[in-house]
Amino acid sequence: MSTLLHGITELVTNDPGLGDGSALGLLADAALVVHAGRVAWVGPAASAPSCDGARDLGGRAVVPGFVDPHTHLVHAGDRAAEFAARAAGQRYDGGGIAATVAATAAAGDDELRALLARRVAQARAAGTTTLEVKSGYGLDVASEVRALRLAGEVTTETTFLGAHVVPAGADRDDYLDLVTGAMLTACAPLARWVDVFCEPASPHAFDADEARAVLLAGRAAGLGLRVHGNQLAPGPGVRLAVELGAASVDHCTFLTGDDVAALAGSATVATLLPGVEFSTRTPYPDGRRLLDAGVRLALGSDCNPGTCATSSVPFVIALAVRECGLSPAEALHAATAGAAASLRRDDVGRLGVGARADVTVVDGPSHVHLAYRPGMPTARALDL
Ligand code: NIG
Ligand code: FE
Repeated sequence: MSTLLHGITELVTNDPGLGDGSALGLLADAALVVHAGRVAWVGPAASAPSCDGARDLGGRAVVPGFVDPHTHLVHAGDRAAEFAARAAGQRYDGGGIAATVAATAAAGDDELRALLARRVAQARAAGTTTLEVKSGYGLDVASEVRALRLAGEVTTETTFLGAHVVPAGADRDDYLDLVTGAMLTACAPLARWVDVFCEPASPHAFDADEARAVLLAGRAAGLGLRVHGNQLAPGPGVRLAVELGAASVDHCTFLTGDDVAALAGSATVATLLPGVEFSTRTPYPDGRRLLDAGVRLALGSDCNPGTCATSSVPFVIALAVRECGLSPAEALHAATAGAAASLRRDDVGRLGVGARADVTVVDGPSHVHLAYRPGMPTARALDL
């Protein structure tokens, strides 16, 4: 059963070989054929082949479904009071994570599953079709396993983040032994990635040597590497991620010239999460500096109850344009093709022939409307 999608004013393929030759591979007055869950044909509407069925999108832009490469969707409770306290001047240091760990421990499996399903539906309703989901609000073996089991019910992009923080009352060295030992052994079969909050500026997170130990143990257990780095202050996260060949280093808010140079010569994607700077009232990462240096950029939401309680990628795109120096085209590219690269995926984040038919419809004639009309419901994933 093939379906023709038409009524597309602008199609973003992310294939520079198609359309206008830009990185977005823009085609005007386009059509797209979906067959067996994949893109089977793209081109001018005037030369579209005949199909078994057709959908008229009514004169809207179509973009690849957003790829959100960084979320913490498995949790209970909220920290709205912590957010309000920041408005009164309190600084974020990761200490609030303990409150979410306690709320999550108090929730049953069905409650957590329902919360997760609602969050996935909300992300999809705003155009996200691929989600990475981390553990990290369990911090004991059974709770981390539970989080990854639930995450695995909604995505293949599951990340073991036992090294989120040292749990309250635990001995650092004992906890590191657990995260690199029995907890990793139990969690690795349920995860694709390992991640660590490498942030010496936080008393709760991990320094370079600790983070290296977590990443090396994760790699030995067969996991790909991701790093939370340089969120709160300049630090070792970016250089460690590059040194170990991590797929992504996330936040990248406080970077030295050496950090930028290291990223530029590497295969590690810099994933910016400007919703965090919005929520924590901190300076935004300089996306322009990174792009100009040749660094591969991704954008993600970091949806979590502490530092960014939204999964809206259109909001993140608008922030990246307003605050990180990206053009609307660069921001969209980072939220699709760049984010797919940060997950080392080439079947998503583009709409060329052979890609997954993850289609997001923009309520407007061009992709620019995503940033141009912030806060409006400009994107939705198409149910085919
Ligand atoms: O990506 N930085 C560490 N982890 C999350 C925040 C988690 C929390 O505060 O609950 C982040 O910002
Ligand atoms: Fe995070």
